[in-house]
Amino acid sequence: TIKYLKDYRQPEYWIDSIDLQFDLHEDHALVKSLMKIRRNNEIADAQTPLVFDCEALEIVSVIAEDMILCPGEYGHENNKFTLFKVPETFTLEITTRIKPQDNTALSGLYRSGGTFCTQCEAEGFRRITCFPDRPDVMTTYSCIITADKEKYPVLLSNGNLIETGDLDHGRHYAHWKDPFKKPSYLFALVAGNLVCIEDTFKTCSNRLIDLRIYVEPENKDKCGHAMTALKQAMAWDEEKFGREYDLDLYQIVAVNDFNMGAMENKGLNVFNSKYVLASTETATDIDFMGIQGVIAHEYFHNWTGNRVTLKNWFQLSLKEGLTVFRDQEFTSDMNSRAVKRIADVRKLRAGQFSEDSGPMAHPVRPESYMEMNNFYTMTVYDKGAEVIRMISLILGSERFRQGMDLYFEKFDGMAVTTEDFVATMEEASGVDLGQFRLWYSQSGTPRVKMVQTHDLQTGTLTLNFSQTTPGDKNQKEKSAMHIPVQIGLLDKDGNEINNPNCGLFHLKTKTDSLVFENVPEKCIPSIFRGFSAPVKIETDYSDTDLAFLMARDTDPFNRWDAAQQLYFREIDRLLEKTQKKEPLGGVSPHVLAAFDLALDGAHTDRALGAKILTLPDENEIGENYENIDVEGIHRVRCFLKQGIAQQVRERAMAIINECASVPASDISFAAMAKRSLKNLLIAYVGSLDTPADADFVFEKFNQADSMTDEIAALTTLSQMTTDHRTVALERFYNKWKKDPLVIDKWFSVQAVARGDHGAGEVVKLSGHPDFSLKNPNRVRSLVGAFTFQNPMGFHTPGGEGYTFVADQIIALDRSNPQISARLVSGFNHWKRYDKNRQSRMQQELKRIITIQKPSRDVYEIVSKALDGT
Ligand code: ARG
Ligand code: ZN
Repeated sequence: TIKYLKDYRQPEYWIDSIDLQFDLHEDHALVKSLMKIRRNNEIADAQTPLVFDCEALEIVSVIAEDMILCPGEYGHENNKFTLFKVPETFTLEITTRIKPQDNTALSGLYRSGGTFCTQCEAEGFRRITCFPDRPDVMTTYSCIITADKEKYPVLLSNGNLIETGDLDHGRHYAHWKDPFKKPSYLFALVAGNLVCIEDTFKTCSNRLIDLRIYVEPENKDKCGHAMTALKQAMAWDEEKFGREYDLDLYQIVAVNDFNMGAMENKGLNVFNSKYVLASTETATDIDFMGIQGVIAHEYFHNWTGNRVTLKNWFQLSLKEGLTVFRDQEFTSDMNSRAVKRIADVRKLRAGQFSEDSGPMAHPVRPESYMEMNNFYTMTVYDKGAEVIRMISLILGSERFRQGMDLYFEKFDGMAVTTEDFVATMEEASGVDLGQFRLWYSQSGTPRVKMVQTHDLQTGTLTLNFSQTTPGDKNQKEKSAMHIPVQIGLLDKDGNEINNPNCGLFHLKTKTDSLVFENVPEKCIPSIFRGFSAPVKIETDYSDTDLAFLMARDTDPFNRWDAAQQLYFREIDRLLEKTQKKEPLGGVSPHVLAAFDLALDGAHTDRALGAKILTLPDENEIGENYENIDVEGIHRVRCFLKQGIAQQVRERAMAIINECASVPASDISFAAMAKRSLKNLLIAYVGSLDTPADADFVFEKFNQADSMTDEIAALTTLSQMTTDHRTVALERFYNKWKKDPLVIDKWFSVQAVARGDHGAGEVVKLSGHPDFSLKNPNRVRSLVGAFTFQNPMGFHTPGGEGYTFVADQIIALDRSNPQISARLVSGFNHWKRYDKNRQSRMQQELKRIITIQKPSRDVYEIVSKALDGT
């Protein structure tokens, strides 16, 4: 069944309070829920039955107003609990029995190792007890947990700790109370043998907040970075958004088995341990950045998501798009704005643009869904963040902040919509966002074309813009969007030209042009600076223009983007040659020259330099083509990489040495930049794959004293033909076999390597004793990495990659549908491949959907992918 936004109705009954009691045991848990219930007289009357959600639970007893009901007096079928006739207000006590130890879906109350934990977003609370499990039902929670004291010394829930004490039979209890109303998806409980590191944060109004991070005892020394990030995030939100923390306690728990990155439960975040635990020996610089970003993201949800929450799940981007925007801004302020922007845009182009052009395309505010968990997408999160970014650009940062202040003022404690947000932004700023709202309702990536006309006589430069968005099943015909285009002009020496038309141009119609007067000849426009709108851009730049922008643009994002366009064009030229079976010849001199120049620039800004010198990956290249030539793209990209490497080998070696001095313990942004530039250049050298290069990379591997360097060298080695490869992989495994997060990396490195050899390696690895479908991180590190980051392997022409992944999807669907469904999207673009691959992928999709009772999660994605066949 499909749920539609247009069918939204208010809840028929409100819950004024809920008191929960959990008795945790090894083979079951008893959950007693006592609710004060009140009819919503706006839409319900005495005849209206009370219908709650429930799933995978046994109802032990039901007591309404002190009357014990027998099973005939309430309904319990099709995941609904029904009372047929109820008074206007009454108390209801429901006791349920659940099996956390058998909960492999990791939704609701489950066990991760020896720890009990919960994940209730989106619809997991109904797997704990009967409840109106929807975000517009907000209430106050109290929670008593009882459990064995020795096995579970730590008992946590949301809010404040009221009382603890001992009970008979070696058991104990803790009583928690959350003073803030919240929807059920923000409820959390944790019980386990955990240790915590503690710190405090003094807020802007001088309140002292206790901060605690709970982990398994052996990980106690790996929480420092997460704690630092939390304090940075708390200070930043006060300064940039005027948001102060509200409870006296902020707790984070790290667990090993978690479907997503982390969860913002009120006062008790639960995290995938990948986004908490770090030391320089075991975590890469990317991991350190990831932790800082996710810790901040969940913290920022306290205001954007928890204090102001969602009216229904169609509004998910109200909290996620906005919170991603906030965490992106935080990371930009803490590190480098340009580098962060480049990383985010790469992700958007490779992931979201591709989602937007496939069978799962949906607007930022979806209009329907079968399974909500399938809509935690890059469109809702990352395109959603772009939409907020555009609003802040159109309003200007001052008016945007006023709009945010008004938003919190008006909607604190309420469940609202994206429309409420946009209307508030209009109200605070006086800016009309009427047409802009299409960004929420219309799916697909707009394409903007820019053609220049120079009139040398009059000294005018005209930029002729046109926009179109290809139709899809959501809207056959697309309307013109309000697209903000940030524009600058450069003279022939790279100086910024002051012209009244520079700055923000609002493209609102299908075509429009912008005329600059009194411009010197040979001036070059720089458009969509900072990637001012999430669109595909087509320009009439010459290769020389691109090389100029790459070297001289004052906007660092556009310098990087010009480099990308230059690489894309070169790749396109080479691809045409391979397709015509012509010899590739060599890399174009102007590309080599531009690369050389960028290498010079990397001396002054190593982090940006490393980004500019990075070639687009095979997926990013494929995204440019309607029909994807898997082998051609692979071959041409290797050819280009090697051509560049040959040319710059000597200089690269010099820079590698220059950057080698940075100590592993230094995780400052400058140190990370050095390592990223060094490791990128080692990868270029390694691509040449001579025995001498192999020795060189192997030596780097053996000398590495940080995980960043170690995994970088291992990744490079694993793409080479040398025997050092096997030695290094074995050495790495033996060194790290006790650390699951590092072994995840070991699986990933191999999952993405040597796709030209087919899928055999990965199939073999799935039989390794350390591989398990039970742990989502492990599944992502092997099957996910193979599916999404090894196009040559996954798309092996014989179909072994497809069969392997489909087998994993089918097996996983029985235990963890959410994780299974994520993998299906590897098949989404099957129609863009050659006939052989098309039929093999289609065949696997059909095999998946014809299994006994596929989950709603998998069914939705497979059926949409197969739609029309
Ligand atoms: N709200 C969480 C976050 O973005 C994500 C939780 C998603 N969970 C899920 N089961 N889909 O921080
Ligand atoms: Zn979030």
